[in-house]
Amino acid sequence: MASSKPVEPQSGTGLPRWQLALLVGTPIVLGVGAVYLWNRSKTKESKGTGERKTPEGSASPVQGQDCQDGSAPAGREPDLVTEPTMTANSPLDRAQAAKNKGNKYFKAGKYENAIQCYTEAIALCPTEQKTDLSTFYQNRAAAYEQQMKWTEVVQDCCQAVEMNPRYIKALFRRAKALEKLDSKKACLEDVTAVCILEAFQNQQSMLLADKVLKQLGKEKAKDKYKNREPMMPSPQFIKSYFSSFTDDIISQPLQKGEKKDEDKDKEGEAADVSESSGYLKAKQYMEEENYDKIISECTKEVESGGRYTAEALLLRATFYLLIGNATGAQPDLDRVINMQDANVKLRANALIKRGSMYMQQQQPMLSTQDFNMAADIDTRNPDVYHHRGQLKILLDQVDEAVGDFDECIVLRPDSALAQAQKCFALYRQAYTGNNPSQVQIAMDGFEDVIRRFPKCAEGYALYAQALTDQQHFGKADEMYDKCIELEPDNATTYVHKGLLQLQWKQDLDLGLELIGKAIEIDNKCDFAYETMGTIEVQRGNLDRAIDMFNKAINLAKSEMEMAHLYSLCDAAYAQTEVARKYGLKPPTL
Ligand SMILES: *[C@@H]1O[C@H](CO)[C@@H](O)[C@H](O)[C@H]1NC(C)=O
Ligand SMILES: *[C@@H]1O[C@H](CO)[C@@H](O)[C@H](O)[C@H]1NC(C)=O
Repeated sequence: MASSKPVEPQSGTGLPRWQLALLVGTPIVLGVGAVYLWNRSKTKESKGTGERKTPEGSASPVQGQDCQDGSAPAGREPDLVTEPTMTANSPLDRAQAAKNKGNKYFKAGKYENAIQCYTEAIALCPTEQKTDLSTFYQNRAAAYEQQMKWTEVVQDCCQAVEMNPRYIKALFRRAKALEKLDSKKACLEDVTAVCILEAFQNQQSMLLADKVLKQLGKEKAKDKYKNREPMMPSPQFIKSYFSSFTDDIISQPLQKGEKKDEDKDKEGEAADVSESSGYLKAKQYMEEENYDKIISECTKEVESGGRYTAEALLLRATFYLLIGNATGAQPDLDRVINMQDANVKLRANALIKRGSMYMQQQQPMLSTQDFNMAADIDTRNPDVYHHRGQLKILLDQVDEAVGDFDECIVLRPDSALAQAQKCFALYRQAYTGNNPSQVQIAMDGFEDVIRRFPKCAEGYALYAQALTDQQHFGKADEMYDKCIELEPDNATTYVHKGLLQLQWKQDLDLGLELIGKAIEIDNKCDFAYETMGTIEVQRGNLDRAIDMFNKAINLAKSEMEMAHLYSLCDAAYAQTEVARKYGLKPPTL
């Protein structure tokens, strides 16, 4: 863990996986699979009662109907136990009577009067009656909350929690007030304690945790991402990225004559370009996998206004995206897209890339717009449909995704990737729709894909995810072995295989060994570090988890991914704090 500032709560997509790790207690599958699992966990969550159990478990059950105000959010009410107002005149009895009066005012919406009564109850109550006293403070906090006096809410809840450390209502109320006061870190700790005390069964506290983790993650990632060193991904990753485009000029080797046609139009305007133009050099470096020099060579082409300016801009933008510099990529992509006379393939490719970038920046509208424009200008480009299909999956628009994959397959019948992804989309749809016969059809579809395209690793990988879901672990394992055979350098597959061992055999050692192997193959595999971190969270090794998450943060390829990792890290950090302060721990593997 970094000595200076340990990890704090995190961001965006963060919670779902965090939640999943703790809530479902099963390992996590990334990529398209993550969306899938996430949705499943959301469904599960929303089935939760949403009702808050009474903290004391003792004397003070909260009666739902006591809270007359139908619009009142759950958890709003003070502890409305009305003891019989008999004679008794001990100080505690008088305190109770004051509280009961306060509760009546509260129910009537007379919060100022309620506060006076609770204050009186607090003054009357013998200090050794901690449970009662904590209830009075908590109730007064509830009244302050109605008046939006957040500082007072925090103060009273602090009193309540001090006397009764596992007082869920007081902790949660304090968490909400701290959020209003923008003390996110403190809020996160309280809400984490609440989640653990409630065994992750209450939707409201889970949602608040999610929200705060996302906000914190976003803030931290924004800051960190700006100042981070750009980093070239592994050659394996780069090749795999380019292979997801088939109708793409810049990723194909230059062929003599191929470029002549379009160049003719430009020859008039473009100045003389020597054959050692920056773009041609960049292409050569690309073939040599000498990726670090590509951006600077493209810059030379662009600055000299060479005949390959459009290509150079697109290639440079692509590498900016690969090293995670979206700010650098965007103006280049904009320029190519606006070059009305450039080759339409270049413009469509730029639109796909800008659309994907917007998606990463969580701007689905802009993203959709770009993909639609790409389809408009280059209607028969299979890449457009393939990538738009992936976008639709992320947006959970499965029917449209399937339509796009189909379009891609029509245009390129040999596109194994599109067929595999279509199967996965159909599978997800069938599975979430609880339709066993459709699930079977999708599974048969996978068999068909791997039979027809035995060299497509992705086909096996996606099939393996579906098989894992269906608890056909042995067969899933075989599929991962095929992937490894086809692409021994792909670290991701080892991570998936490791996760499978955990789920299948609860074999932590084998699982961790495989994930260790992934790191050995590719020490920039952020997925491996993230997964290891998640497993360590589940085992209760929070410090080690934080360490792993920090490694992944330094490798994150986008701000959004980084934000997500910060959330994981902050969630783990909050748990260490809660464990320290309250001796509370979530269930571990
Ligand atoms: C590694 O394999 C996965 C499937 O398991 C695939 O999605 C990914 O693109 C591959 N990555 C690289 C870098 O080849
Ligand atoms: C991204 O690229 C632009 C253009 O080269 C550069 O000015 C900027 O510093 C880069 N940002 C990062 C974070 O590397």
